[in-house]
Amino acid sequence: MNEIITEINKLKKEKNAVILAHSYQNIEIDKVADYVGDSLYLSQMAAKTDAEIIIFAGVYFMAQTAKILNPDKKVLLPRLESGCLMADMINLKQLREFKAKYPDIPAVCYINSTAEVKTECDICCTSSNALKIVKSLNANKVLFLPDTYLGKWVESKLDGVEVITYHGYCPTHLRIKPEDIHNARKNYPGAKVLAHPECHMEVTKLADYVGSTTGIMKYAAESREKQFIIATEKGVVDRLKRDYPEKEFILIKDNIICPNMKWHTLDDIYNALKQEQHEITVDKDTAEKALLCIDRMLEVSK
Ligand code: 13P
Ligand code: SF4
Repeated sequence: MNEIITEINKLKKEKNAVILAHSYQNIEIDKVADYVGDSLYLSQMAAKTDAEIIIFAGVYFMAQTAKILNPDKKVLLPRLESGCLMADMINLKQLREFKAKYPDIPAVCYINSTAEVKTECDICCTSSNALKIVKSLNANKVLFLPDTYLGKWVESKLDGVEVITYHGYCPTHLRIKPEDIHNARKNYPGAKVLAHPECHMEVTKLADYVGSTTGIMKYAAESREKQFIIATEKGVVDRLKRDYPEKEFILIKDNIICPNMKWHTLDDIYNALKQEQHEITVDKDTAEKALLCIDRMLEVSK
């Protein structure tokens, strides 16, 4: 493994490349990554990098967002299979039908959406800034897509804002059931339950803290508590165990794994960098329109 890490680091320097990795990635990827974090952090890093090549160890919409922010740079996705099932739940036609049912209501899209969908939304958001973004619209009704659960969680936190959601969801997070939380609390009395807002509302209602992947990691790092039940993808637990060995982290149940996030290996990253392969492209018109939606989010999140 050390050999491939050395090779990747050498190539990175030679080619002026940067590696961005989501916290759900296979943990060994952190050894070559320049930035590891949640989707907001990674899009902020993509927006300000000077590198000529961006390797995105994440899912397709993340690499696409990086490309939209950097039209003149080469953005590579080590394995093209890395899609996001939730992002694929709404296409432009379905978005238009959804918007037509609710005319004149601003539309917020989760960053987990395609570039085409972003072209016809007012602003996008991530799980870490969704509340702030919806508030920034000063509207009493907003459309939210594709994730119904993140949208409904936002609504539950805001007074007087109706959040009308599309029926998308994350299959990985929906595997977590309320009874899993009850069982975990029975087995680990006193442990704090930290959940991602993509979980079902019946799950987030039972959590002590709800936040993005970075939010969960920050909460666990700063808390005086020693035991945490983690209701999100396994990559977060792997990193928490590595970074805070004095604390105990329990994955809510086995196999809360996003298969799409786990495609990339160090070999794939090496090959992508060496061959400059699996380049993500977005047509100019789509990219320019989608950029407005992403830029508005970055502006509000500063
Ligand atoms: P974060 O915004 O927390 O990184 O979440 C992205 C994601 O796809 C979670 O499933
Ligand atoms: Fe998409 Fe769910 Fe995987 Fe996140 S965990 S990338 S929302 S399928």
